Amino acid sequence: MTAQTEHKNSLAEIVNILGTASEVLKGEEQASLLHGNAITVLQTLPENCIDCVITSPPYWKQREYEVDSTFSDKEIGNEDRPSEYVEHIRAVFYEIKRVLKPSGSLWLNIGDKYHNKNLMGMPWRVALALQDDGWILRNDIIWDQMKGTQSPKDRLRDVYEHIFHFVKSQKYYYDSDSIRIKPTKVPSLTGNGIMSATGVSGVKYRQQIASSTTLSEQEKSNALQALEETIGKLRNGELVDFRMTIRGAQRTYHGENGNISGRAKELEERGFFIMKSSAKGYIPSDIWRIVPEDKWRKDTHCAVFPEELLVNPIKATSPENGIILDPFVGTGSSIAAALHLGRKAIGIDISLKYLATAQQRIEEVLAHQNTLPLQF
Ligand SMILES: C[S@@+](CC[C@H](N)C(=O)[O-])C[C@H]1O[C@@H](n2cnc3c(N)ncnc32)[C@H](O)[C@@H]1O
Repeated sequence: MTAQTEHKNSLAEIVNILGTASEVLKGEEQASLLHGNAITVLQTLPENCIDCVITSPPYWKQREYEVDSTFSDKEIGNEDRPSEYVEHIRAVFYEIKRVLKPSGSLWLNIGDKYHNKNLMGMPWRVALALQDDGWILRNDIIWDQMKGTQSPKDRLRDVYEHIFHFVKSQKYYYDSDSIRIKPTKVPSLTGNGIMSATGVSGVKYRQQIASSTTLSEQEKSNALQALEETIGKLRNGELVDFRMTIRGAQRTYHGENGNISGRAKELEERGFFIMKSSAKGYIPSDIWRIVPEDKWRKDTHCAVFPEELLVNPIKATSPENGIILDPFVGTGSSIAAALHLGRKAIGIDISLKYLATAQQRIEEVLAHQNTLPLQF
């Protein structure tokens, strides 16, 4: 029996809450909650129909969910050995890969576990297995939860978890502009011209170029021209800030050896380089500082996604009206965030108790959809 078939159970066990999955896929309903074993429900979905999967499966030996008796043998996370857990997770993501569009993304949050004092490295065991199955890993995001409940005596507190961003093919949907962090300060006009967001006007650079003993006359002329072009972009709103490095005028931290970096090479060849901050903002980093969610958590077992965590994955990797899937949906955080952001969503869970919370939460979102936008 393969890992895929091992998890099969009767299709009759799947229960629809809100719309059906096919109504969501056809655009007739906004959300569907399906009660059943993730792998079984996934097998009922057509291939290449989902834009983005965001999920947090049960962690290995971390929690005991209140699982309905029909599914007590299907719960993931209670396996004796890490390798068995990895195989179960792998089987679910085999189906996920099938239902995901070629342009789709998978965001996988997974926690670690100490076993006999030994940190098991569960997130990476899973990530490497998924890579072996053909998934392409684009980012390992460190979710800094900023607070930890434990105070161990012989090691440090754990405050982060991993979120892996996987894709199915090299070319995938990614709207990086939608998640850029916009500058808080903008350039301002002064009596003498324009000043960047951090007060750079270019006057000092003009003087440094003019008095430089290390630039040739041609390099000075090129540097002045590049500086004026940059200031022009500041004036017309394309840039919010810039810094200029001129050969011999500023300390450089990367050395002036062309082998070290592109900037060092530019400095050597042209005599200057300009670092520009675009008004479009900058791309977020792979460390996210977000405090975990408590509002929808009715017991200590289910690690609930904060909605803030879901905003960038949804915006960057699914189009407006795209379809989000969470095969371990719990209290419905990913569905709520998807609806808030104008997407449709399908959630699966083995526990009716969690699905009841998810249903209540999603009905609230649907009822207030036009009056309660998600804002961070
Ligand atoms: C970490 S929780 C997910 C919490 C969710 N991200 C939220 O924001 O509420 C994992 C969920 O997986 C569900 N689960 C466990 N085994 C499952 C299986 N075989 N199929 C579907 N769901 C399962 C549990 O009932 C639990 O709700």
